[in-house]
Amino acid sequence: MKDDLDTALAHLTAARNVVVLTGAGVSAESGIPTFREALTGLWARYRPEELASPEAFQENPQRVWDWYAWRRQLCLDVAPNAAHHAITALQDLVPELVLISQNVDGLHQRAGSANVLELHGSIHRIRCFACDRPGGDWPDPVGEVPVCRCGGLMRPTIVWFGELLPADVLAQAEQAALGADVMLSVGTSSLVYPAADLPYTAKRQGAFLIEVNPQPTPLSPIADVCLQGLAGTWLPRIVEALSARREA
Ligand code: OAD
Repeated sequence: MKDDLDTALAHLTAARNVVVLTGAGVSAESGIPTFREALTGLWARYRPEELASPEAFQENPQRVWDWYAWRRQLCLDVAPNAAHHAITALQDLVPELVLISQNVDGLHQRAGSANVLELHGSIHRIRCFACDRPGGDWPDPVGEVPVCRCGGLMRPTIVWFGELLPADVLAQAEQAALGADVMLSVGTSSLVYPAADLPYTAKRQGAFLIEVNPQPTPLSPIADVCLQGLAGTWLPRIVEALSARREA
């Protein structure tokens, strides 16, 4: 049975290395619009490529900076939801947990998760567009695009269209997938590579694959268990059941 929670729990109980891969669906219940939903209101006139690409930044750095400042404020105005907190709690219920996220909103960290592998960067950190020098946290408040000491302009560390993922982070994520006993793929459409490759890498080496998503995705056919529904429903249920098994 694909929706068999008990089978999923048995594998999670027996697992040593658990890897969790999250996407925008984990933050949906916090009220963060998914990437494509964020193109609303005054930003509706732009296509994603006109706001989230190196070319867009070169053409109009202030417009791109303003869009991310607006999106970052959205992230700051909401709170982590039950799914984020459950993932943080899961870290204490399994021997080893590696959290890999495609999200840039920082909600996992605000829920208490440490060492999050942010495959697509973070809306809260900046770096120089010209020399790549890290610029630390997003400066508050600032209107103009900050200038690096090299004279270049600062940009969010978010991975833009046409850009490579941070190689060190991706290597750590691939290493985690190769050693996973269980992988949970939560709230991702499994459409964007190379992040979407990670569950396949885990499955190929024998990991037990659990998907949490209200909709089927291209990953669903190879998942061992598909928990159809919201992350904010299923993850607390998993954590509660694992905790009860530990106390029994
Ligand atoms: P998507 O917006 O592509 O997919 C969100 C997934 O979450 C969908 O499969 C939904 O069915 C599911 N979902 C929605 N609400 C949910 C909930 N409450 N609980 C569980 N699942 C839910 O987001 P991602 O898969 O994360 O890249 O997209 C991957 C990347 O595409 C993003 O990181 C972004 C974008 O290009 C960058 O920003 C670099």
